[in-house]
Amino acid sequence: MTTLITGGAGFIGGHTVLAFLDRGEIPIVLDDLSTGSREAVPSNVPLVVGDVGDIELVSRLIRTHRIDAILHFAAKIIVPESVADPLKYYLSNTVKTHALLQAAVKGNLKHFVFSSSAAVYGNPSFTPVSEAARPSPLSPYGMSKLMSEYMLVDASAACSLRHMTLRYFNVAGADPAGRHGQSTPGATHLIKVALETALRRRPYMSIYGSDYPTPDGTCVRDYVHVSDLARAHLSALDHLRNGGESQTLNCGYGRGYSVREVVDSVRRVAGVDFETRQAPRRAGDPASIVADSDQLKKLGWKPEFDDLPKMIEHAHDWEKKLTAVAAAREQRSGMVRFADNSNYAHAAVP
Ligand code: UFG
Repeated sequence: MTTLITGGAGFIGGHTVLAFLDRGEIPIVLDDLSTGSREAVPSNVPLVVGDVGDIELVSRLIRTHRIDAILHFAAKIIVPESVADPLKYYLSNTVKTHALLQAAVKGNLKHFVFSSSAAVYGNPSFTPVSEAARPSPLSPYGMSKLMSEYMLVDASAACSLRHMTLRYFNVAGADPAGRHGQSTPGATHLIKVALETALRRRPYMSIYGSDYPTPDGTCVRDYVHVSDLARAHLSALDHLRNGGESQTLNCGYGRGYSVREVVDSVRRVAGVDFETRQAPRRAGDPASIVADSDQLKKLGWKPEFDDLPKMIEHAHDWEKKLTAVAAAREQRSGMVRFADNSNYAHAAVP
């Protein structure tokens, strides 16, 4: 019984690898290292560098490692980029998931856990939004995930594969023990951007939109700690391994924070002030999205870090490490201090 984790060298996949190790299970990682890093995969976890869309490769892995479950994280995840380059997202997130599913069905795989997103809901008419709400994505990213969800439901119905689809809300934080965090090059996520600004790696940050129909005019999101989310995958997989039926579940805490509330919390946790500038709305952003996650809790999922300042503190600790590693590298190579964050983003934390 072995689990294959696609995208296990990335942010959420990497934390899920740690959650497996913490309970004494060693998975196998398949990652093309396009955004993930080799250093993120612990040395006792086999890493196969390859493409999830390579049917022959995945078929061989299923056969030779007697894989019973695939956790599929590998994807492109930046909403505004998906608006600018939709076909890239349909290829990476939908076409490659189709190939992966072909290999899974061909190999008689039993269990599949799919990383979907709250982006499938678009601007829901009610929040908290339950899984029963009608999906209506606002971005090609959300649509690419929804199309994969549909393929998975139909493919499962036609064979013995059972699946869990997890719709993530806004994932943040970092491993509390400091083993892993968000290192993806060019990350655009709010908490990461705010922390980079607090650490003076950006001169200021933008707040996109101030005229949304929300209490302070900025967008409201449900931020979920990545380590809690990683453990949600264990609950989902255990449910399938214990004979449970296929399900689609929201992963969030059921509480929303506005962009301004998050920025203020980052200021308090980091203990510094920094400049924000008001900018126009960002394409593809829904006004407010908060999870109804009652169904996930019924599986036995017990969040440990439902606490925004704690989540920011863990992410802050990680960002400080990235900053220190990049600064040391910069000093060694005599590099000129850079204006953007790309060198920091590539820095590997030992
Ligand atoms: N934001 C800013 N300034 C920034 C970055 C973000 O104002 O520098 C705002 C955004 O406009 C948005 C909010 O902060 O209103 C959150 O933006 P993120 O980029 O952190 O996250 P998104 O809500 O766009 O998307 C994330 C994931 C998706 C997922 C979605 C579900 O990236 O995969 O949450 O809500 F689908």
